[in-house]
Amino acid sequence: MTSGDHASFGTGASLRVRGERLWQSLMDLARIGATPRGGVRRLALTDLDRQGRDLVVGWLRAAGASVEIDRAGNVFALRGGRNAALPPVLTGSHIDTQPSGGKFDGNYGVLAGLEVLRTLNDAGIVTDKPTGVAIWTNEEGSRFVPTMSGSGAFAGVFSLDYLLAQRDVDGIAFGEALQRIGYAGSVPIGGRPLDAYFEAHIEQGPVLEREDITIGVVTGALGQRWYDCVWNGQDAHAGPTPMETRRDALRGASRLVEAVNAVALRYGPVGRATVGFMQVSPNSRNVVPGRVAMSVDMRHPDDNALESMDRELRDVAHAIAQDLRLECALRQVDRFEASRFDSGCVDAVRTAARNLGLSNRDIVSGAAHDAIYVGRVAPAAMIFVPCKDGISHNEIEDARPEHLEAGANVLLQAILARAGASRSP
Ligand code: GLV
Ligand code: MN
Ligand code: MN
Repeated sequence: MTSGDHASFGTGASLRVRGERLWQSLMDLARIGATPRGGVRRLALTDLDRQGRDLVVGWLRAAGASVEIDRAGNVFALRGGRNAALPPVLTGSHIDTQPSGGKFDGNYGVLAGLEVLRTLNDAGIVTDKPTGVAIWTNEEGSRFVPTMSGSGAFAGVFSLDYLLAQRDVDGIAFGEALQRIGYAGSVPIGGRPLDAYFEAHIEQGPVLEREDITIGVVTGALGQRWYDCVWNGQDAHAGPTPMETRRDALRGASRLVEAVNAVALRYGPVGRATVGFMQVSPNSRNVVPGRVAMSVDMRHPDDNALESMDRELRDVAHAIAQDLRLECALRQVDRFEASRFDSGCVDAVRTAARNLGLSNRDIVSGAAHDAIYVGRVAPAAMIFVPCKDGISHNEIEDARPEHLEAGANVLLQAILARAGASRSP
């Protein structure tokens, strides 16, 4: 279909994104931080993050958007509407990745948004309300805690000062890293009214693929708790030190790994618990480790269950510490409650999928997403598409071009339904 055909329909109901252009953008962005196994390592606020941002911001500007950057480094690329005074219909996601991340997590949501703007331009569509694409800073929470940093600060979940003071494992502050890559903008954080926010994302789980369904209509997301846990015992010689007198911090950490998995299983099938980070000190093969720092990530769709999981975690950590004569400092460092997306926005996604003739089902997100925090200050919803074998946070993360295209078409139609469209004069 040519852009002339699109325009002749006026309202944009027949408008479709260009799937191959979206795919090409994904592949081009994936070259920045590409890993040998086909993944991407583009940690938040690194030089690679700057390069990725520069590339995408360049594309957004070339699509005619005006770009603003706020003090947390969130990027807002806005496309005018017939009524400039109205709050925009926003979409977006993040382009920071996990250390061994894939090409699609986050990147898809941002580039699907770019593809929507390009498609509107091609068809000469003027929306009634402005539209726009956001790139949220440090969604992954891998380099800096809290997760969903930019969108959380935007929504007032934590203060900008708190965020800028957070440090990575090397002691570098968020604010310092943001300045260094040149994305510490001057626009005040938050206080930006939005008509609605839609975020497209790969599912990152197995449900859609298993059921051969193209579109997940995301109704909400699990609640989450993050902890830092530090075990202190005593460094000692691996040879002469009797087994009975040791205070081995790694034994405490190891027992906790098993214990948190057992907690999740007790709250199954939807409870989740993970230890993904550990630093053993002094990390020498012939020294009994005197100190271990580790993370705990727990998730559940029911906040009461999550509270009970929290209590069980504290109890078991305390019991292990007593048994092994260790000190254990367990600190909650991030939390958010289970969320439900706005029913009007969820309906807009469902209706768009139906009108496009795409198979769809309601789904709850197991992963965290910027839409969770944006949804606290604006009506929000998400669109999921399947990913291969449900694998994500992995270099082999993969998704089918036709599914990505379908999700972007749902995004386009949901945005049009909300923003209102007419042909340019
Ligand atoms: C982010 O990717 C998360 O779900 O932790
Ligand atoms: Mn993501
Ligand atoms: Mn992720």
